[in-house]
Amino acid sequence: MWSILLLVSIAAVSADPKEFNGDKVFRVVPQDQSHIELIKSIASDTQLDFWAPDSLSLISIGQQADFRVEFDVAYDVQALLESSGMPYEVLIGDVQVAVDEQHDSNIRAVHSYEKYNDLDTINAWSANIAAQNPSLVTRSQLGTSYEGRPIYLLKVGRSGSNKKAVFIDCGFHAREWVSPAFCQWFVKESVENYGSDAVLTNLLNNLDFYVLPVLNVDGYVFTWSSNRMWRKTRSVNSGSTCFGTDPNRNFNAGWCTVGASSRACDDTYCGSTPESERETKALANFIRSNLSSIKGYLTVHSYSQMLLFPYSYSYALARDHTELNTVAKNAVDQLFTLHRTRYTYGPGGTTIYLAAGGSDDWAYDVGVKYSFTFELRDTGRYGFLLPESQIKATSEETMLAVKSISNHILNNA
Ligand code: ARG
Ligand code: ZN
Repeated sequence: MWSILLLVSIAAVSADPKEFNGDKVFRVVPQDQSHIELIKSIASDTQLDFWAPDSLSLISIGQQADFRVEFDVAYDVQALLESSGMPYEVLIGDVQVAVDEQHDSNIRAVHSYEKYNDLDTINAWSANIAAQNPSLVTRSQLGTSYEGRPIYLLKVGRSGSNKKAVFIDCGFHAREWVSPAFCQWFVKESVENYGSDAVLTNLLNNLDFYVLPVLNVDGYVFTWSSNRMWRKTRSVNSGSTCFGTDPNRNFNAGWCTVGASSRACDDTYCGSTPESERETKALANFIRSNLSSIKGYLTVHSYSQMLLFPYSYSYALARDHTELNTVAKNAVDQLFTLHRTRYTYGPGGTTIYLAAGGSDDWAYDVGVKYSFTFELRDTGRYGFLLPESQIKATSEETMLAVKSISNHILNNA
């Protein structure tokens, strides 16, 4: 009797989301190799959760690095940083406070464009917006996730023959919550402003937009139920107790050669083979099947405020480097006009870091010339825990960049 009660209560406790009380996010700027060694040695003693860049191996001299440290060692780590002389700051003093403050209020479950919506709410929304706007939006299923959830895809645009298309995906990395929020915003703007916004109307008349609101559905659910800081998919890895593959290291583009890990426990694990994940396989299959129409590929991540284009698997310049650079510059200039938000732009390898297996490089190499990765707000004040109050401004400024790129595609592809 008592043992049954005990089991029940343990089950109830373990179902609660992981908390981050007292965890800190530090920003460091290593000045020399000894500082890098110090971070490595700290990482070997305690679990460091790298926010930007995504893993220990991507840290370099002179580049800032943000990572989360658990409460019980946070003061010891801070003391080590202090005595090392390495410049550092505390970006977030208590991660749980920031987790709690992302939401404006605790009333959930109704869909809102200015809130973070859980997966069930997003799925109900996508069914609804397609049903309400049959001449502009249709919903299909791209595939099924590892845990068996449907991955939905919206096609947005006025029907027509031989239209070129732009593919936009969100929610690769589970904890980057502002990304799915942007994809929902894009669809909302399309249905609300078709017929009144001349630029948008022209785009929707002449292009199809494939909008994938959440690719990594299992990971996204897991960030709501269990661990807000989860990044990867949730597939089981044979021979390991760690779950998941980094979907943006799982594409067949210099796969697992650089900036990716072959260890299943790492956040940048490249997977057992390219496209080992059901989610990445479904995306790649769709793009391969629609290569004749898809001219643009936009993949939306956070955070860092960057607009990246190929390559990230090497420092080689893309064949279309000059044109892509101009398109990126025009897009970030447009974005800046609204709230003066500054983005950097350039090839992934030199602008952020070398990291192979990304969907942008893969799409480019299979022939989608206009291939870009967005890293949305912010630059680290909140990082992945961007407050809901910034969803609107982030989405509106990003719309300007997406419209700018899409116009270029319409006129040049
Ligand atoms: N933060 C993103 C990531 O690491 C950047 C992706 C840039 N593109 C790339 N192929 N690595 O996944
Ligand atoms: Zn990401």
